[in-house]
Amino acid sequence: MSKIKKIISKKNKTKIVSLTAYSKNVASILDNYCDIILVGDSLGSVLYNYKSTREVNLNTMIEHSKSVRMGIKKSLMIVDMPHNTYRNPKEALKNAKQIMKKTKCDGVKLEGGKKIYETVKTLVKNKIPVMGHLGLLPQSDKTFKFKGKNELERNNIIRDAQLLEKAGVFSIVLECVETSLAKLVTKSLNILTIGIGSSKYCDGQILVFDDLIGLNPMNYRFVKKYANIRNYISKSVLNYSKEVRKIKFPNKKNSY
Ligand code: KIV
Repeated sequence: MSKIKKIISKKNKTKIVSLTAYSKNVASILDNYCDIILVGDSLGSVLYNYKSTREVNLNTMIEHSKSVRMGIKKSLMIVDMPHNTYRNPKEALKNAKQIMKKTKCDGVKLEGGKKIYETVKTLVKNKIPVMGHLGLLPQSDKTFKFKGKNELERNNIIRDAQLLEKAGVFSIVLECVETSLAKLVTKSLNILTIGIGSSKYCDGQILVFDDLIGLNPMNYRFVKKYANIRNYISKSVLNYSKEVRKIKFPNKKNSY
């Protein structure tokens, strides 16, 4: 069974665990616990302080993905296609092929529904596994508010999810989608939904790793901080600085 079929077969049996990673060392830890590791274009804001993920380019995604690849042995590795790299099927295919070839990832993620239907079909026809992304779409959203407040928004998300499934995606990230809508979409599909801020009813969950460990000082409703790594780093660096100033580090053991 292919890696993709295997993961889809987990639907309704066990929840899918997913996180983002941008580098080898982090990926090698996550690989022990995750089904899917995403090299997300969120790296634009998390690492580079860009105002939006729209500033992330293909080369940056490829370089981080090459690093992540070195840390993964078993999880499915998916790479975000950055903004303006999939404006039509031809452009998407050229860039997706480059991502797959250079990073040896297992698939790519694209944001959008109806607009990218033909593009997704083209990628899938060319044996490139695709993860969709609906709800709040950071590459194009202006308001960054949760989705599913009104009938139009709800119907569009339901239609887009069905279209993406028809086009051949193996899973769809649902970002900040209202609970009852996320539940409905998840039940109506044979493929996986991976939620972020979209309730426990999705087939799996994803978070940005830096948010989960509390490295990112920001607080978001949909994030649970499982650690406060900033404190831990602060304490370690404080101790190091004290020891350097007191000439306690390096000692004999640390010297040649
Ligand atoms: O870019 C990203 O990290 C993402 C996840 C938040 C789903 O798209």
